[in-house]
Amino acid sequence: MASPSALLWVPPRGPPSLSPSGCVHRGMVLFAACELGVFDLLAAVAARLGVSSRETELLLDACVSLKLLHVEVRREKAVYENTELASTYLARASPKSQQDMLLYTARTTFLCWGHLAAAVRWTGRTSYLKAFGVPSEDLFTAIYRSEGETPQAVRGLQDEWRLGGPRVVAAFDLSPFPLICDLGGGSGALAKACMSLYPGSQVTVSDIADVVQMAKRHFSFPEDERTGFCEGDFFKDSLPEPGLCILARVLRDWTGDKCSHLLVRTYQACKTRSPGTPGAECAKMDLPRLCKCMQGDVCEGAESVLFGTMHQGGTVTPSPCPVEMLVMKLLETAYGVLQIHCVHLWAALCPCD
Ligand SMILES: C[S@@+](CC[C@H](N)C(=O)[O-])C[C@H]1O[C@@H](n2cnc3c(N)ncnc32)[C@H](O)[C@@H]1O
Repeated sequence: MASPSALLWVPPRGPPSLSPSGCVHRGMVLFAACELGVFDLLAAVAARLGVSSRETELLLDACVSLKLLHVEVRREKAVYENTELASTYLARASPKSQQDMLLYTARTTFLCWGHLAAAVRWTGRTSYLKAFGVPSEDLFTAIYRSEGETPQAVRGLQDEWRLGGPRVVAAFDLSPFPLICDLGGGSGALAKACMSLYPGSQVTVSDIADVVQMAKRHFSFPEDERTGFCEGDFFKDSLPEPGLCILARVLRDWTGDKCSHLLVRTYQACKTRSPGTPGAECAKMDLPRLCKCMQGDVCEGAESVLFGTMHQGGTVTPSPCPVEMLVMKLLETAYGVLQIHCVHLWAALCPCD
């Protein structure tokens, strides 16, 4: 009997023929293989993919050349199985799976990349307009453009926290803060990481109503009094009044003015709980300084161009960079200043250290 991983049989053939010449080809192979469930199939039980044998073979060979699959010829048949990389990060059943992030990238980000030149040429408009017909002001209308896409996008964001949430949260000492609000908290994955590291903390996940409802439906939360939810628009509606506000991957979506507005509102919400905290001006001052110190390498530069054209962010500083996570620590009255602590998500997730 074939081993559980030796699942997909195709006619014998020569060495892998597709040799991707660049990132685009690699990305497309990876996205297609995820979309078709190749890695899930090879991780689970014998089954057929719903594509013709020749195309399947080409795709599988491409995955072999990208070191996502192993291939072996047994009894004149080619047998494919997942590499460790694919088992760990691409098969949906893996606790470290990044499949939803890849599918979101394929269905949304990649389409926007395809309109980069037009977006640059049409200053003031974004790729979302070209890709989905939605203007930049309605950024999240484009991302949450259908019932199916909303959970896909939020799951995609969750994937990164599943990988590095505990390490990111551990980059700060949040123990002095029993009441935390994760503003624009999406799936609540970071909230869960906080509660797990700080058993004494209560975390409120705040987001627009549709996302909060969807998160409650699709993601499980500890059934205790430590998890709260707050629905609303963080630019307009009243905010929870925590001791600490987390803004993870939120500010990069908005213009400098909107970020300042949000930071001031956040500050005021926290100030209610800590009346002695000094003026909100610090928030405005700290933002550009923060971004400046995080100017990055070529890849980040490329990402900034995309962000600048897809999102409203990127206009925050003259030399834009994606601020991945901010924790606003607003209760440090001892220091006499408003404190903003930040962590660069990719640095925190880097497996090298
Ligand atoms: C890039 S996502 C980051 C989500 C989450 N913080 C994370 O790191 O996974 C930005 C989040 O902000 C939320 N958001 C966008 N506009 C908002 C608004 N006006 N009011 C409240 N939340 C908003 C989105 O729904 C989304 O969950």
